[in-house]
Amino acid sequence: MEPQYISSVLGLLFAAVLTLSSATSPHDNFLRCLSLSSNLSSSIARVVYTPDNSSYSIILRSRMRNRRFWTADTPKPFVIVTPLLTSHIQATIHCSRNHGLQIRIRSGGHDYEGLSFVSHVPFVLVDLINFRSVDVDAENRVAWVQSGAIFGELYYKIAEKSKTLAFPGGICHTVGIGGYLSGGGYGLLFRKYGLGADNVIDARLIDVYGRILDRQSMGEDVFWAIRGGGGGSFGIVLSWKLKLVSVPPTGALFAVGRTLEQNAINLIHKWQYVAPQMPHGLYFDISLSRVKSTRDGKKTVISSFIAFFLGGSDELVPLMHERFPELGITNKDCIEMSWIESIIYLGKIRNQPLEVLLDRDFQTPLTLPSYKSKSDYVKEPITEIGLKGLWTRFSENEAEFGVIYFFSYGGIMDEIPESSTPFPHRAGNLYKIIYNVGWQQQDNINSDKYIDWIRRIYDYMSTYVSKSPREAYINYRDLDIGTNSEGNTTSYARASVWGRKYFKNNFDRLVLAKTMIDPENFFRHEQSIPPLWKKQG
Ligand SMILES: Cc1cc2nc3c(=O)[nH]c(=O)nc-3n(C[C@H](O)[C@H](O)[C@H](O)COP(=O)(O)OP(=O)(O)OC[C@H]3O[C@@H](n4cnc5c(N)ncnc54)[C@H](O)[C@@H]3O)c2cc1C
Ligand SMILES: *[C@@H]1O[C@H](CO)[C@@H](O)[C@H](O)[C@H]1NC(C)=O
Ligand SMILES: *[C@@H]1O[C@H](CO)[C@@H](O)[C@H](O)[C@H]1NC(C)=O
Ligand SMILES: *[C@@H]1O[C@H](CO)[C@@H](O)[C@H](O)[C@H]1NC(C)=O
Repeated sequence: MEPQYISSVLGLLFAAVLTLSSATSPHDNFLRCLSLSSNLSSSIARVVYTPDNSSYSIILRSRMRNRRFWTADTPKPFVIVTPLLTSHIQATIHCSRNHGLQIRIRSGGHDYEGLSFVSHVPFVLVDLINFRSVDVDAENRVAWVQSGAIFGELYYKIAEKSKTLAFPGGICHTVGIGGYLSGGGYGLLFRKYGLGADNVIDARLIDVYGRILDRQSMGEDVFWAIRGGGGGSFGIVLSWKLKLVSVPPTGALFAVGRTLEQNAINLIHKWQYVAPQMPHGLYFDISLSRVKSTRDGKKTVISSFIAFFLGGSDELVPLMHERFPELGITNKDCIEMSWIESIIYLGKIRNQPLEVLLDRDFQTPLTLPSYKSKSDYVKEPITEIGLKGLWTRFSENEAEFGVIYFFSYGGIMDEIPESSTPFPHRAGNLYKIIYNVGWQQQDNINSDKYIDWIRRIYDYMSTYVSKSPREAYINYRDLDIGTNSEGNTTSYARASVWGRKYFKNNFDRLVLAKTMIDPENFFRHEQSIPPLWKKQG
C-alpha cells in the first residue's frame, strides 16, 4: 500500500471513530486543535465556519463562481476558514494534517471544475478573502498583491497611482490573483508583455510544514513551479511581487460582428494568417455565439472580431487596412480609451465608473451561472470547410448559450522559451481556442446535455488542433482529460496524461519541484502534480 493511501484511510477512520465514540463532535476536536495550535491572542475561532453556522452557506457560495456546483449533492467542506493572519493558515494546515483532512485553497473561485471548493474526500476550505491587500509602488514599478485580491482591485489601485502603468492580468475583473498566476494567465497585454506569471518576480508561500518561504528560501525550482504549474499543488501562495508594465494613456478598440452572410467564414480563415503576425501591441480575438437576428428574430451565429491596440486609431485603422482589408475596419468602428477603460468595456460592464472594478460579486453577462469549458491550441490554419462545421454544431439546441473564442498568439509569446515557466504553449501556436457552454442554474439537472454538446464539438475539432499531446490550458481546467476522479490515488501514469497536455515536457520538472516541497503529497486534488515516488506506485 502506498503511504499516502494509508494515511488518508487512517484519517477517514479517525474521523469516523470520533463521530461514533465521542460525545464532542469532530468539529469540536478540530476547533480545539486550531485554537491550541494558533497564537492564542489571534482568536482563530472568529474565522472558522462549521456547517451549522448560519453564515456557512453564504460564504461557501459567495466565491463559488460556477453555479454548476450549487446543488445539494455537491460535497461540502467540513469547515471553512477565512484566515486573517498567516498563523491562522499555519494552524489550519497543521490541524488538517493531524485530522486526516484535505485542504482546498480558494482565491477568486473561478476554477472551471470547482477544484477550489469541491472535494470528494473530507476537506477544509481555506478561503483567502481576507488576504487581499494590494500595495503598488509606482516609482519602482512593482506591486505586492495578496492572492485573495481580484484583478479589478489590482487594476484600480494601479490606476490610482499611474495612468501609464498596468499589469498583464485577466480580462474579467473578478478573476482571483491566486488561481490566475498559478496557471500562467493571459489578457489584453499578453502579446506584448507575456503572461501574468512571466511578470512575477517574487512570492510568499506557506508550505506543508507551515514555513513561510520567499523566492530565495523556496529555491528556483519551486519558484519556477508556482508560476504556471497550476494551483493547489505546492502550498498556499500568500502574495506575489509583480513587475508593472507601461501602457500609453490611450489605446484604441474595436468590436465588430459578422454573420455567415457577411462572409464570416472567409474572414476567420484569413484571421488565422494575419492575427498572429500582427504587432505585439495588438490584442485580437474572435468569439462565436448565437444572437437573435434583428431581421426575423431567429437565432443566428455571429462572429465578433475584437481588438485592443496600444496606440491610437490613427495607427490602428491603417494597420487593419493594410493587413486585413477584408474586415473593413474604419475610424467609425474604433473607440479610443485607456487600457483600464477597455477592461470595463470588454467586460460588458460599460458606462460604469472605475469603482465597478472593486465589485467582486458583479456577474458579468459574459458567463451564465452554470458552465463547462475546454481548450485547444491551433498550429496550422483550419480549412474553411473545417470552420463551417462549427456553424453546423452551433445550430444544435444545446448551443444556445455556447461561446467559442479564438485568442491570437504570436508577439512576445513566440520569443519566450517553452521552459521559462511551466506554461509551455509558446512559439508555433497560431491561436488558442476556448469552448464554453453555459446554461441557466435551474437547468443544472440537465447539465449532461450541455456537457455532451461541448464534448462533441471537442471531438469534432480533434483533426484541426494540436496533437500528441493535444495541448490544453491549465487555467481552463478540464477534468475530462485523463483524470483521477477521487483525488486520493493520483497515479503518476494518469497524471502524466493531463500533465503533458497542460505542461508538455515541463511536467517532469514540476514533479521534481513537487517532490522537493511537498513529498508526501498533502496539497492535492484531481489534477495536482504528483511527487516522484508515485512513479513506482
Ligand atoms: C469568467 C471567467 C473569466 C476568465 N478570464 C480569464 C482570462 O482573461 N485570462 C486567463 O488566463 N484566465 C481566465 N479565466 C480562468 C482563470 O484564470 C482560472 O479559472 C483561475 O484559476 C482563476 O483563479 P481564481 O483565483 O479565481 O480561482 P480559484 O478557483 O480560487 O483557484 C483556482 C485553482 O488555484 C488554486 N489556488 C487558488 N488560490 C491559490 C493560492 N493562493 N495558492 C495556491 N493555490 C491556489 C485553487 O485551489 C484551484 O485549484 C477566467 C475564468 C472565468 C470563470
Ligand atoms: C500573536 O498575535 C498577535 C496579534 O495578532 C501578534 O501581535 C503577535 O505578534 C503574535 N505572536 C506570535 C508569537 O506570533
Ligand atoms: C459563525 O462563525 C463566526 C466565525 O467563527 C462567528 O463569529 C459567529 O458567531 C458564528 N455564528 C453562529 C450563528 O454560530
Ligand atoms: C478514495 O477516496 C474515496 C472517498 O473517500 C473512497 O471511497 C475510495 O475508495 C478511495 N479510493 C482509493 C483507491 O483509495
